[in-house]
Amino acid sequence: MGLVLNGGKVFAGGKLRRLDVRIENGKIAEVGTGLEGGREIGCKNKLILPGAIDCHVHFRQPGMERKEDWEHGSRAAVAGGVTTVMDMPNSVPPTVSLARLEEKRRYAAKSLCDYSFHFGAAAGNISDIKKCGLPSVKIYAAETTASKAAGAKLMLATFRAAREAGMTAAVHAEDMDIIRANELLARNKGWNSVAYHSYIRSAESEAKAVANALAAQRQAGSKLHICHLSSAAALELMEEADRNLVSCEVTPHHLFLSKAGVAGLGNLAKVNPAIHSSDRKALLRALCAGAIDCVASDHAPHTIEEKSRPYWDAPSGAPGVETMLPLLLDACNRDMLAIADIVRALCSRPAEIFRLAGKGQIRTGFDADIAVVDMKARKAVENTMQQTKCKWTLFSGRHLRGWPVMTMVRGNIVYSKEGFAAGFKGAEVSVVRPDLRKADK
Ligand code: DOR
Ligand code: ZN
Ligand code: ZN
Repeated sequence: MGLVLNGGKVFAGGKLRRLDVRIENGKIAEVGTGLEGGREIGCKNKLILPGAIDCHVHFRQPGMERKEDWEHGSRAAVAGGVTTVMDMPNSVPPTVSLARLEEKRRYAAKSLCDYSFHFGAAAGNISDIKKCGLPSVKIYAAETTASKAAGAKLMLATFRAAREAGMTAAVHAEDMDIIRANELLARNKGWNSVAYHSYIRSAESEAKAVANALAAQRQAGSKLHICHLSSAAALELMEEADRNLVSCEVTPHHLFLSKAGVAGLGNLAKVNPAIHSSDRKALLRALCAGAIDCVASDHAPHTIEEKSRPYWDAPSGAPGVETMLPLLLDACNRDMLAIADIVRALCSRPAEIFRLAGKGQIRTGFDADIAVVDMKARKAVENTMQQTKCKWTLFSGRHLRGWPVMTMVRGNIVYSKEGFAAGFKGAEVSVVRPDLRKADK
């Protein structure tokens, strides 16, 4: 039996309209008025949005289960209106071979949301990149949690492999030489708090790495996605890029944390790239203008114990998959951005960039992945209510207006006020082959 969501405002065809959505066999069967045919779910006074796609999460399996796992991470996702996640390869061991990808798939089988993966770049794995069938290969230009810096040669070779395989090359863009020099300086000066992090992992370091990645991209002719863009300097470089091939994302923490906010959070706010608070207005403007394609959480949990170490020893990263959509809805309520910007950045653009079949739109034939949203709901973010295994958030204590109240993955209610679906399991998203996509157009 089918389902009908009625009485809500549906984001379809690029705008919000009072429509019903009929769901059959996990797919959107019809979007229109006066629809019938199955169990009705009343959505009066609610928005019906495509489920969010978080194209950047670290669910930490295998190897770092003390920080996160797929059960907790995917619950956090659906509680935050996220219906598809793309997991990063810096697990332990990293996802840099077909065998390790198979291993990761066994962990992800426990997921409550749908998922895909970024393959990892490593010396000597070009043939596996070409064979893996994933939408993306990730390259770390600088050292960060469980990953070493790739040199220029590896980057170019990986970009070439990505182009041949029709994949997107996703880059963590920071320059290790600049960071190392800054670290030396900082240690000599005795800097030892997160307040200095944005000087050490500086905007200049990001800009240099983005420039290098763009140069390699032009040489290889590949698709390039810059992860977690954090500075106005890097943003400027994106203006020169071929926007048919180059895209980028921003995180909620780079958009919404002030300098005072960062200082108050201590090492919890130690993230790479650093939070350059004075640039956050430029990032928000670029997001609204479509110059930044996506918002992604870079959900990167660490335990409180690890984060309680002194600045130099604390790991970088923070959770965020659960608070991403609520933060954006709240910002929308404050007229900082529009619902259309949110849907573009969380749904349609990530689906397009990573060629996720059937995802990102409320449209006949697409997967019925849906976030039902109450724009008037008010709630404070609390550490205790977080589903992530690490049980903390950068936004604890923030009062937000606008919350997802029900989340559906392929027509299954996975999260609602009744709690989480028991027994439902997400699936790996298939990738639209580039030749097929061209034929569509
Ligand atoms: O802060 C970060 N944490 N940046 C990254 O690139 C990696 C991430 C992690 O995996 O902890
Ligand atoms: Zn990164
Ligand atoms: Zn990351």
